[in-house]
Amino acid sequence: MKILLTGGAGYIGSHTTVELIKAGHSVVVIDNLSNSSEDVIKRVEQITNAEIPFYKLDLRDNLSCVFSEHAFDACIHFAGLKAVGESVSLPLRYYDNNLVSTLNLIKTLEAHNCKNIIFSSSATVYGTPAEIPITEQCPKGICTNPYGWTKSIIEQILTDLYKADTSWNVIILRYFNPVGAHQSGLIGEAPKGIPNNLIPYITQVASGRLDKLHIFGNDYETPDGTGIRDYIHVVDLARGHVAALTAIKNGLSIYNLGTGRGYSVLEMVKTFEKVNSVKVPYIIEGRRAGDIGICYSDPRKAMRELAWRADYGLEEMCRDSWNWEQNSRSVHV
Ligand code: NAD
Ligand code: UFG
Repeated sequence: MKILLTGGAGYIGSHTTVELIKAGHSVVVIDNLSNSSEDVIKRVEQITNAEIPFYKLDLRDNLSCVFSEHAFDACIHFAGLKAVGESVSLPLRYYDNNLVSTLNLIKTLEAHNCKNIIFSSSATVYGTPAEIPITEQCPKGICTNPYGWTKSIIEQILTDLYKADTSWNVIILRYFNPVGAHQSGLIGEAPKGIPNNLIPYITQVASGRLDKLHIFGNDYETPDGTGIRDYIHVVDLARGHVAALTAIKNGLSIYNLGTGRGYSVLEMVKTFEKVNSVKVPYIIEGRRAGDIGICYSDPRKAMRELAWRADYGLEEMCRDSWNWEQNSRSVHV
């Protein structure tokens, strides 16, 4: 299939490009490079030995130059701003970027008769989850920040779109916590400034770029008191998109993409230290506002219907994150 990837120069988009090309698909990328660089596309070309048509474009702008040159079978829509804390201080930027982009994209897809879309959503739409492990039947919850609301609203827009016109095929993928990097060490997550997420913070402490890890709370109702999350290797997550394409003709579907296993912050630190023979000094601090104690998926629907499951374990996630950290100095801003 010929696939349009929005946000394809980003962390998850770049890994998905690699897996799509490996599976025999062809890919065209649109990205405004607000959180990535064109160098990522070159690195993906190096890994795949394929040429990737790339358009540096903001999705809120006119996209006809892309559609006049290509006809797509499906679109995977990754593009969006994703920093939770920043979305609280700059809500209009987040609503404008994420929602206006999506509306413009959908209208353009419709005008060019491409009605197959896969959307990058997040476990954040469950809010404080009503059940653990979280199935797709778990009701959506109250989001704690504007970023989360953009995901929840876009899910609603896509659901309403499908209800109004069932010739659309929509797959909503709710990611849990993507970590790790491609085994080549050529692509990975390159957060700008101080990382918000756990693994990028740990890798920067281990490399000495940051002093110590601040663990946000050890008084949750978990065995060691620290927060539990469902970390998933980004290559497994990328393969989830390849699998989802096989189900794109079935109307509207929602899938959790996670491993179904939760690990605590302390388990992450200990595993990272052991696998990579490094030290990660930490201090325990108070809880971070908006955090929940436990969040992990029930991924069985994706296993059953998409014939997909996550293969990599925590050790590979820690190993590949560290490999990327050591290879990526030139990419970090
Ligand atoms: P990322 O920031 O690395 O990639 C997103 C890409 O979209 C970037 O390259 C950015 O330049 C581009 N972009 C943003 N706004 C754009 C616009 N208006 N026009 C064109 N390009 C634009 O993020 P990621 O981690 O790869 O996440 C991909 C998607 O998955 C996002 O929608 C994110 O919200 C979602 N998601 C990510 C996580 C996570 O933990 N990484 C978890 C759940 C969901
Ligand atoms: N944590 C720390 N110290 C840090 C960073 C994180 O102790 O410096 C802890 C958090 O308190 C939490 C765990 O590590 O218990 C994971 O935190 P992350 O920030 O890495 O991930 P979150 O689960 O909070 O959120 C991430 C993305 C969201 C997305 C969600 C999906 O940031 O955008 O996963 O499950 F919605």
